[in-house]
Amino acid sequence: MRFSSLVERIGGEGARAWDIHYRAVERSRRGEDVILLSVGDPDFATPSPIVEACVSGLRAGNTHYTDMTGQPALRAAIARRQAAGAGQDVSPEQVVVFSGAQNALFAAALCLLDRGDEVIAPDPIYVTYEAVIGASGATLVRVPLNRASGFHLDLDALAAAITPRTRAIMLNTPHNPTGVVLREDELEAVAALCRRHDLWLVSDEVYATLTYEQPHISPAKLPGMAERTIVVSSLSKSHAMTGWRVGWTIAPPDLVPHLANLALCMLYGLPGFVQDAAAVALSAESDELVAMRHELRARRDLVCTRLAQIPGVECLRPEGAMFVMLDIRETGLSAQDFAERLLDEHAVSVLPADAFGPTARGHVRIGLVVDRDRLSTACDRIAALAGSLAVG
Ligand SMILES: Cc1ncc(COP(=O)(O)O)c(C=O)c1O
Repeated sequence: MRFSSLVERIGGEGARAWDIHYRAVERSRRGEDVILLSVGDPDFATPSPIVEACVSGLRAGNTHYTDMTGQPALRAAIARRQAAGAGQDVSPEQVVVFSGAQNALFAAALCLLDRGDEVIAPDPIYVTYEAVIGASGATLVRVPLNRASGFHLDLDALAAAITPRTRAIMLNTPHNPTGVVLREDELEAVAALCRRHDLWLVSDEVYATLTYEQPHISPAKLPGMAERTIVVSSLSKSHAMTGWRVGWTIAPPDLVPHLANLALCMLYGLPGFVQDAAAVALSAESDELVAMRHELRARRDLVCTRLAQIPGVECLRPEGAMFVMLDIRETGLSAQDFAERLLDEHAVSVLPADAFGPTARGHVRIGLVVDRDRLSTACDRIAALAGSLAVG
């Protein structure tokens, strides 16, 4: 039997990137002491008021079909968060609720892109982007980030990649996997390109609240950008809610009906009790979330300090998000071989970062997703592997 041409476009390297993670999960299920640092899903529990709101919603019978674009209270809470956090005044009607940022990215791509269009994304990119863009029929154009500046933007390369076919730029700040938080001058320059060439900007801001140095800036608030920017975000990372699948788009008003039509035909609304919980999540800052962010910072500091002491590898200190990039080029191994040996010989799983794109070749991505004791043990094991390779 024959499949659609879509299956080719969604089945590339990105889909295979998780192989090492699945192998590690399998070993851990068999009872082996594997430290899993290969996924962006920390060990924090969803704060209890959010869980309680979900249970109350269930008990109150919010178990029927819901509004296709999201419950009004949730859309209003998301709009308030965007105003307070990003300084962009938006109405609740500009918000469409999706099943996680992943689903929202997919919706944005399908409503903006056509076959033959080009989408520029700074490389490395989050692994699913290629398939998301591919699903729409458009072509992904990877523009290398500048390794010499710790993976910040190469604005000249970005400008040079624009062709008459370019339809959108896809940005992610704070960035997965590099941990870069784009500065205002970088965002201004991207915004200028979008305005000059009449491009859409898809701004993936799932790590917006997880910054360690300077705060996150949303490009949507820059002059002339609100009408051409789709902000994509979710509660997955900010509220330790990866499994709840609550995300959204914030879009210019004329795009919203199209996103709503897509939500209707592919999703048909998120569970009401989940949306009840999501609205509570966004209603107030909780002590648990503050503690979570402090803990992530402490993990980052610990891991970076420990890795900096290992000869032959170089740790890139992230400015945001929840990953540390480790440059292992001096070991002489490829990132894939390093990650495989780390798993096979030392029971630590990290992702070879070239799964995110060629610019990250020779780096592995370490997730700050387990407690400091386990991270410390993982650093010992990384040191043992690096030592056995006799580098430095
Ligand atoms: C950059 C980036 N965008 C989007 C997503 C998807 O997030 P969600 O869980 O909200 O679908 C992730 C998840 O790791 C991510 O790292």
